[in-house]
Amino acid sequence: MRPARCVACTIATHRGSQGVTPPLPPAAPRNAVDAKAIDKGRILAGSPTTSGSLTWLRAPAMPGYLTKQESVPIAGVDNLLIRSLLDRQQFSDPLGVAERLGISSATWPLFGLLWPSGAQLAARMALRPLRTHERVLEIGCGLGLASLVCHRRGVDVTASDCHPLANPFLLENLRLNALPPMKYRTGQWGSTPLVAQREHPHNAPLLASAVQGQFDLIMGSDVLYERDVRATLASFIDRHAGAGAQIWIVDPNRGNRSAFNKQMAAHGFEVTEERLDHPVRGDLPAYKGRLLVYQRNGCDAPPESPSAPSP
Ligand SMILES: C[S@@+](CC[C@H](N)C(=O)[O-])C[C@H]1O[C@@H](n2cnc3c(N)ncnc32)[C@H](O)[C@@H]1O
Repeated sequence: MRPARCVACTIATHRGSQGVTPPLPPAAPRNAVDAKAIDKGRILAGSPTTSGSLTWLRAPAMPGYLTKQESVPIAGVDNLLIRSLLDRQQFSDPLGVAERLGISSATWPLFGLLWPSGAQLAARMALRPLRTHERVLEIGCGLGLASLVCHRRGVDVTASDCHPLANPFLLENLRLNALPPMKYRTGQWGSTPLVAQREHPHNAPLLASAVQGQFDLIMGSDVLYERDVRATLASFIDRHAGAGAQIWIVDPNRGNRSAFNKQMAAHGFEVTEERLDHPVRGDLPAYKGRLLVYQRNGCDAPPESPSAPSP
């Protein structure tokens, strides 16, 4: 998988590590360019608590991960300032929290990169008519662009992911965009590792803050990148989809779509697919992929079905 290329990219690197309070100074610059671009802001890391705020974990000093900051264009609305991992090479799991959750060093950085489908979903959510009292859940949110756009619009949205650093990055990106606190819950489909290790002290806050309840809209982008033979994602969605719920998944044609459609069908969900392909548009990169909209058989389509973003 390739992360999105930086658009309007203002790179500022700094080192993060698990367990920093109070904020640490930025890492020594690696070269003259970095020296000018070093972000003097706080460094975030830790694990989510039950309230969605942070518990800071103390850890021995050790190399952490590098981040950058960029202005990300979202079609139809103001850019978002986003702190992300510098690249796919970043990895830091000094306390083994990610490892215990089944996150390998290869998959560790995936949450913290800007994936093209994330901006696509965010653009759709920017245009979606607001519905009173609608509860929205983002699954596998990563950096949570779509959740941030929803939150900026005043939608009741909960971002979720299984990665222990997803919430800290969300908090940092809320701060960068001067947005108030928003809801974050641990949402791990196929949550056996987490449940099986409930007695581990570092997992307790993650478990206590797990996604609960049902939602009117469940959305996700680029979450079908692995073969899910146990259909854990479809089961997770089924558990959290309220009556009449819609599920929006933006998929960059990764090849697991048909299998996922069948798994969703086993839970009574029918799919409609919309191609999102478009060429480069101003500062928006070209995209190839689909919006998959699922709804349970027999449920009436809501009055506002998804509408394409303006060119
Ligand atoms: C390719 S990234 C996409 C991130 C984001 N949705 C985007 O489009 O930018 C996949 C995301 O799914 C999350 N993920 C993978 N497996 C998961 C699981 N079993 N439960 C919850 N989240 C998971 C990862 O942590 C990561 O944030």
